[in-house]
Amino acid sequence: MSKWNYGNAYKRHPIADNEIVVFDNGSKIKVHDIFDPLPEFMKEADLIFVDPPWNLGNLNSFYTKADRNDYKDSFTPFYKRLFECIAEINPKTCYIEIGKEYLADFIIEMRKIYKQVTFYNSSYYHRKDNMCYIVRGSNKYKKLPLDYMDEEDIIAWVCENEEYDVIGDLCIGRGLVAVEAYKNGKKFVGTELNHKRLSVLIERVVFLGATYTKEAIE
Ligand SMILES: C[S@@+](CC[C@H](N)C(=O)[O-])C[C@H]1O[C@@H](n2cnc3c(N)ncnc32)[C@H](O)[C@@H]1O
Repeated sequence: MSKWNYGNAYKRHPIADNEIVVFDNGSKIKVHDIFDPLPEFMKEADLIFVDPPWNLGNLNSFYTKADRNDYKDSFTPFYKRLFECIAEINPKTCYIEIGKEYLADFIIEMRKIYKQVTFYNSSYYHRKDNMCYIVRGSNKYKKLPLDYMDEEDIIAWVCENEEYDVIGDLCIGRGLVAVEAYKNGKKFVGTELNHKRLSVLIERVVFLGATYTKEAIE
């Protein structure tokens, strides 16, 4: 049995591969591998915040946690596919979190989609030593007060202050983006490889008062 059960939320809020979870405010999520064709509902996003795996080792560790063994032997196809999905969604603004190793590659990819690209120094788990970067792309220049904020605070800031109707996250995991969007009365759409992590998201949003239904996909 897998040791990655995330508090067994998947038993309380199970979600199958062929279902879309639809929340009371119209938000939608689905178990999905980004290498598969993009679900249509993801194109509703006019803003994206995504914290993908940061390198090959990290990517494959998420495959282990999802009880999969179709490990990748290169990180490049993963991030190229991620940016292909972003280009297909074509949101007005996009934020991507990344470590130092692939920062330059992510900036190069972001520049292929947006005229204005910048990055902010950030950290994770509220520890200054855990350094990471948030790359922002849009077609309008904006000076934002995000440098040296922890990534969780940046997500909260983005969900509260950016101009958008629907925020998307292609690797939505346990739902930091979903929770902050819901708190601000905004719609979110998301995909995630691991159904057990997605069940944690459902539980967190339900804790905030949401209800949901499940739609089977033909
Ligand atoms: C760094 S975590 C994101 C954390 C997220 N912000 C949260 O609140 O939990 C990266 C996520 O990407 C997911 N992931 C990895 N490979 C994926 C793939 N091929 N398609 C979709 N999601 C994937 C992982 O399962 C993991 O939940």
